[in-house]
Amino acid sequence: MRERKTATLTYGDKTLELPVLVGSEGEVGIDVTSLEKDMGLLTFDPGYANTGSCQSAITFVDGEKGILRYRGLPIEQLAEKSSFIETAMLLIFGKLPTAEERTVFRALLSDHELLHEGLLHHFDGFPPGGQPMAILSAVINSLGNYHPELLEIQSMDEFTMAVAKLISKVRTIAAFSYRKSLGLPFMYPDPNLSYCRNFLHMMFSVPNRDYEPTPQAVSALSLFLVVHADHEQNCSCSTVRMVGSTQANLFASVSSGICALWGRLHGGANAAVIEMLTQILSGRHKVKTFLEMVKRKETRLMGFGHRVYKNFDPRARVLKKAAHELVFQSGIHDPLMDIALELEETALSDEYFQSRKLYPNVDFYSGIILRALGIPVNMFPVMFAIGRMPGWIAHWREENRDPTTRIHRPRQIYIGPPRRPYIPLDQR
Ligand code: ACO
Repeated sequence: MRERKTATLTYGDKTLELPVLVGSEGEVGIDVTSLEKDMGLLTFDPGYANTGSCQSAITFVDGEKGILRYRGLPIEQLAEKSSFIETAMLLIFGKLPTAEERTVFRALLSDHELLHEGLLHHFDGFPPGGQPMAILSAVINSLGNYHPELLEIQSMDEFTMAVAKLISKVRTIAAFSYRKSLGLPFMYPDPNLSYCRNFLHMMFSVPNRDYEPTPQAVSALSLFLVVHADHEQNCSCSTVRMVGSTQANLFASVSSGICALWGRLHGGANAAVIEMLTQILSGRHKVKTFLEMVKRKETRLMGFGHRVYKNFDPRARVLKKAAHELVFQSGIHDPLMDIALELEETALSDEYFQSRKLYPNVDFYSGIILRALGIPVNMFPVMFAIGRMPGWIAHWREENRDPTTRIHRPRQIYIGPPRRPYIPLDQR
């Protein structure tokens, strides 16, 4: 990042020249690192909407223009031409792999797709119907215990090994958590299948019958994972970086990212979209009356709006097209798709949404794709977590290798009571 000019801050009788940083796409940030030391001041930015927490070379988002690029490559090109594994390698290792590198990495994923049998007992500790997201986070954290040699990563080889284990096993753990929640036997991974096919096999095959997904279903799953693979400093990524800044291990750090992703305003939004569309389908509300409720702020239009995008989320465009194609190819009409299209059209022509720059986000159509793949709603955030794993790993690594990293420790403006004496119990 180039340093250019300074910004001048005046407070009381003091003036401070603050360095200005300019990113490779022209983003400008004022470096306030010395603010407290030199002026005795803090910045106040609830929700960190104006705070650059780090310098990063992984993902670029321009929310005004609706641009998303991983390592410089536009999401539209990756969605059309790449696969999830190739995109994961791009994010984590910084460049598109050669054919040989990709083959070696795929083989590594196959080598590490099984779970230690001891780890399987963890699944028994969860009640019937247990939330797959809780299982995923707990088992990913426990995974580190089974690989103590990777708790302190010292070399590129160790890092690559940890990456292979996480990317491969997150899919196995996710599928097993689903099987466990239904009381079905675990289907072990098949090393002869591609990453996405293997996942669908572990989800839907039964011991006496192999599940045979269509090629379109496999491609749609890969696309879903590609567009979810990273999104710069969002809540779960920032959580991973924050936990990682304490020098916590990679497994613990990404496990905390899974917890952050769980909420309805983040990775839980795709399930909330389906819930909302289902309510409308059931006749509880009409599209117009539902939108009136949204405008009265009685509820939110789930899958709409974004902290950064004030234009179309490019992922929503890609997924809308894919959802259309998949629903059409499957030959099974999904009435929720019709409602989604009507909601989108009506909202986009309404002043409330226009003036607030609220557009469909990645979650608006992703649930339709997952439904067409037969994925149950309580697995939706888990699917997001599988997709986001490469991004979390890339950010953890970037921060871990950055010599300027300090433990994340935001400040506050204290508004509680001033100093007061302790009152003994019998005098209160
Ligand atoms: N429906 C209705 N109104 C909305 C919505 C929405 N989905 N999103 C924002 N608004 C309104 C707010 O009420 C607010 O209106 P006001 O100015 O009259 O008070 C204005 O738009 C600005 O909203 P904020 O809440 O300040 O926006 P913020 O950046 O904090 O929130 C968020 C972003 C959480 C994504 C929000 O748009 C939202 O709740 N969307 C629905 C949930 C969702 O789809 N989440 C997934 C996000 S993408 C992801 O995590 C992968």
